[in-house]
Amino acid sequence: MIKKEICCIGAGYVGGPTMSVIAYKCPQYNITVVDSNKDRIDAWNGSLDNLPIYEPGLKEVVEKVRNKNLFFSTRVDDAIKKSEIIFIAVNTPTKEKGEGRGMAADLTNVKKCAKLIARLSSTDKIIVEKSTAPVGTGEEIKSVLKSINSSNKFNVISNPEFLAEGTAIEDLLNPDRVLIGGDDTTEGKIAADIVANIYREWIPEDKVIMTNLWSSELSKLASNAFLAQRISSINSLSALCEKTGAKIDEVANAVGMDSRIGSKFLKSSVGFGGSCFKKDILNLVYLCRYYEINDVANYWENVIKINDFQKKRFSLKIVDALKNEESQTTISVLGWAFKKNTNDSRESASIDIVKNLIRNNIKVNVYDPMVSKQKILDDMEGELESNLSRLKICNSIESSLSGSFGICILTEWDEFIKFDFKKTISLLSKPKVFIDGRNIINLNSLDGLFEHVMSLDT
Ligand code: NAD
Ligand code: UGA
Repeated sequence: MIKKEICCIGAGYVGGPTMSVIAYKCPQYNITVVDSNKDRIDAWNGSLDNLPIYEPGLKEVVEKVRNKNLFFSTRVDDAIKKSEIIFIAVNTPTKEKGEGRGMAADLTNVKKCAKLIARLSSTDKIIVEKSTAPVGTGEEIKSVLKSINSSNKFNVISNPEFLAEGTAIEDLLNPDRVLIGGDDTTEGKIAADIVANIYREWIPEDKVIMTNLWSSELSKLASNAFLAQRISSINSLSALCEKTGAKIDEVANAVGMDSRIGSKFLKSSVGFGGSCFKKDILNLVYLCRYYEINDVANYWENVIKINDFQKKRFSLKIVDALKNEESQTTISVLGWAFKKNTNDSRESASIDIVKNLIRNNIKVNVYDPMVSKQKILDDMEGELESNLSRLKICNSIESSLSGSFGICILTEWDEFIKFDFKKTISLLSKPKVFIDGRNIINLNSLDGLFEHVMSLDT
C-alpha cells in the first residue's frame, strides 16, 4: 500500500512531539518533519536520550516510529514536493521591528513557508496552519500561495495546537479537543475532513471540532488568554493574601470547588512563563487596537501587567529579606525552566527575577535539573558583565546551597519537593531565608531552620 505523505515544517516543541504522535497512531502516513536548523534535526536523528526536546514519554514514542514512518530531515524542498498535506509549525514570535513591533506576531517564518510551498508545488496540497497566528493569517497564506502559484489548488486549514509542555505526549494522546477550521466551501469542507481524519484515528468524533478559519484562529488566542488570565487572577489575590493573612491555596481551593469555575490553573506562582502566553496575549491586544476596540485591548493587557507585577513583587520580597546583611549575600535559586518537566526556559519568571537579584548586588547560585548551562547564559544575554559576575550556575541542589544565605524556589520540580533541606542546612553560610515561589514546600517542616520562611502569600 502506498502511504500518504505528510510533511511538517518546524521540528520544535510542537512539530516534533505532534508528528511523533501522529506517526505512532497513523501507520498509514509517512511523515517527514523538516527544519532549517541542522543541529535540531541532527539531535532528532541522534540518541534517544538526547532528543532536542525533553518531554515525558516522547522518547518512547519516537523510538517506535523513527525511520519507520517518521523521518527528520533538513531537506525542506524534497519534503514539500512529495507531500499532500503540509503542516506549518514554525515559530511566530512577537515582532521586533516595523509596524506592531513589541506586540503583533511576526509572520515572516509562516510566509516564507507559504512562498516556498507555492514555488515548489506541482500538485494540489492542503496546508495546515499549526503555528499560533493572528486571525486572518489563513487568508494571508492563501493570498501568498495564489500570487505565486495559480496552477495548483491549495486549501488552507487552521489546526491550532493546545498541548502544554511537560505533558505534551499525554495532551496529544488524549486532547480535550482538536480544532479544525476551514473554508465554508465544498472544497474547504473536504480538506478539513481530510485533516480531521488523521486525528479521528485515535480521538473520539465528539472531540474533533470543525469551525470556520477565523473562529479557529481566534479560539487559540482566546484559550491562551483565558488560561493566563486565571493565573493572573490568582496571583493578584496572592498579594492580597500577603497583606491580610488569608492563604492563597485555601482561597484557590474554595473558589475552584465551584464547578462553574473549576479547579485547574489556579495555582499561584512567581508568574507565568513559556513562549506563548505573553506573545499570544500581546497579539490579541494588538488585534483589538488594530480594530480600535481599545477597552478590550486594555482588559487583556492587564493580564500581562499583573504577571509583571507578580515577578517584581517576588523579587522585592527576596531583596527585602536579605537586606541588612553586612557582606554581599548569596541566594540559592532552584529552578530555571518556566515549569517542571521541560527543558524550556523561554519567558521563564526565573530570568526576570534573577536579573533583579543580581542588579541588586545579590549573588545567585542557580540550579535546574533540565535547563543547560548554555541556555541559562543565553537567557541572560545583554546583562552587564559586572552583574553577570554574580551569577553562578550549579549542577546540583547541594552545590547551589553551598555558601548561600537562603533558598528560593522558582520552578516546581519534584526534585525540590522531595529534597531534604533539613539534612543539608549546614551547607548554607547562614540560613537566613527560605522563599517558596511555587507554594510546593510544607513550610512547617522547616520550622526553626531559617530566620524567615516565606511563600507567595506570607
Ligand atoms: P520552536 O521555536 O520550538 O520551533 C519552531 C521551529 O521552526 C524551529 O526549529 C525553527 O528552526 C523552524 N523554522 C522556522 N522557520 C522555518 C522555515 N522557514 N523553514 C524551516 N524551518 C523553520 O517553536 P514551537 O514552540 O514549536 O512553536 C511553534 C508554533 O506553535 C508557534 O506558533 C507557537 O506559538 C505554537 N505553539 C507552541 C506551543 C508550545 O508549547 N511550545 C504550544 C502550542 C502552540
Ligand atoms: C500553554 C497552554 O497550557 C497550552 O494549552 C498551549 O497550547 C500552550 O501554552 C501554547 O500555546 O504554547 P505551556 O505554556 O506549555 O502551555 O504550559 P502551561 O502549563 O500552560 O504553563 C504556563 C505557565 O503558567 C508556566 O509558567 C506555569 O508554571 C504557569 N502556571 C500554570 C501557573 O503559574 N499556575 C497554574 O495554575 C498553571
